[in-house]
Amino acid sequence: MASNVSELTTYKAYLQGEWKKSSSDETIAIQSPYLRKTIGYVQAVTQDEVDEAIKAAHKAQKSWAELSLSERGAYLDKWADELVNNSEDIATAIMQEVGKGFKDAKKEVVRTADLIRYTVQEALHMHGESLKGDGFPGGDQKKIGIVERAPLGVVLAISPFNYPVNLAASKVAPALMAGNGVIFKPATQGSISGIKMIQALDKTGLPKGLLSLTTGRGSVIGDYLVEHKGIDMISFTGGSGTGRHLSKQTAMIPLVLELGGKDPALVAEDADMDVAVKSIMNGAFSYSGQRCTAIKRVLVNEKVADELVARLKSEIEKLTVGSPEEDSTIVPLIDDKSADFVQGLIDDALNKKATLVTGNKRQDNLIYPTLLDQVTEDMDVAWIEPFGPVLPVIRVKSDEEAIELANRSEFGLQASIFSQDIDRALEVARQVEAGTVQINGRTERGPDHFPFLGVKASGMGVQGIHHSLLSMSRERVTVLNLK
Ligand code: NAP
Ligand code: G3H
Repeated sequence: MASNVSELTTYKAYLQGEWKKSSSDETIAIQSPYLRKTIGYVQAVTQDEVDEAIKAAHKAQKSWAELSLSERGAYLDKWADELVNNSEDIATAIMQEVGKGFKDAKKEVVRTADLIRYTVQEALHMHGESLKGDGFPGGDQKKIGIVERAPLGVVLAISPFNYPVNLAASKVAPALMAGNGVIFKPATQGSISGIKMIQALDKTGLPKGLLSLTTGRGSVIGDYLVEHKGIDMISFTGGSGTGRHLSKQTAMIPLVLELGGKDPALVAEDADMDVAVKSIMNGAFSYSGQRCTAIKRVLVNEKVADELVARLKSEIEKLTVGSPEEDSTIVPLIDDKSADFVQGLIDDALNKKATLVTGNKRQDNLIYPTLLDQVTEDMDVAWIEPFGPVLPVIRVKSDEEAIELANRSEFGLQASIFSQDIDRALEVARQVEAGTVQINGRTERGPDHFPFLGVKASGMGVQGIHHSLLSMSRERVTVLNLK
């Protein structure tokens, strides 16, 4: 692992299978959140270059879709191998660019290789179906429907900063295995990691033009990409505001949105406190809470609230705070604006008389882990996603009150329920409006073959390997009308 960034690289964009400087002659400086200096430059690609990339992807996609699944899979398996072979370098880029602890960054790369390999295997084992006409009243045995899966064309993959490799590959891999061309637009803060990931893919000899990497600010090329007539499907992960914007910009193409969350931990009075404390700590504070699935509020029965708050305080004060190079749990947030936002939520809560249990310390964009008790409904931190290390505790009198507060949120990504009574936990789980409810465990996306989805402002459509393959392909029905 090295944090030597003295020689700054200007990274090229990957357009039509070539690494190129943009004709815009403009680059974007990438700032490291913890080194607090520029670590490299990426190209600001132009709209004309986007046009060319999409055209090339359509052309290459036709022959790609003709390859057998095993042939496509062989490219992806090599890609997974390349990622593992280059995991130190890619993890260093992730660490420097988005401030993720080195060990976690390395895990992200290995997890991505596993995800790619599983995607290959899943695609190889998915099969269509055949139907006979006589299954419907008046139907005929001689009418046989063959249902296969066909690619959609060119998929636009847009990823967020916090998993710049894993959440990009979780779109690119199924898109390719399903027989599509791909335009990959990484988060600007995350572009260098995305470029390194695509360098690994390029080494496999992927057909030229099939995939292009268009770096550039979402606010500048984002709308152009999203509204482009040559895009046949969009897989987006990012904030709910951006997702809402995208859903207005697109028309008549499939759209999968994985968005923000305000995941609650509902702690009943009969919870196993060891399990609840461990899961909440891990769920809320890893990578400084910059996970869509982080636990972002605690709804605890008042009978055990004092105990839970005291134990959380004690654990929070043991968290390591500092540099991702030292694998600290609490690291500087992605930028100063994000830290200001989190600080604003803390200030608002304290002004409205929340109890500061621990934290509320800050150095630039490093926000110390903060626990707020006696949080009430009039406080922004009760409802808004901070994407930072602040955890509000709301005390409730009953399961019904906890469920009502959980569901009053605009979000519905995940929730955790802690109770030793499995019937009770299941009953609460059935009533909580969320894509996934965890019983006696932390909120999290993985394992990556599980369906992953948000409801309400947390998303639309489903990811997870099997479902991503489905969403990036369509049914093709051929009917045999036999004599
Ligand atoms: P973001 O600001 O919404 O950005 C996400 C992506 O959208 C980036 O690539 C961004 O590019 C791009 N973008 C911005 N404006 C666009 C436009 N007009 N058209 C097309 N693309 C556009 O989100 P973020 O700050 O990177 O990530 C944090 C958020 O993502 C949090 O809310 C988190 O909860 C959510 N998230 C959700 C999941 C999930 O699976 N549910 C997973 C991870 C994160 P630029 O970077 O160039 O602006
Ligand atoms: O940030 C959102 C990611 O989808 C969360 O993934 O639960 O594996 O950290 P994770």
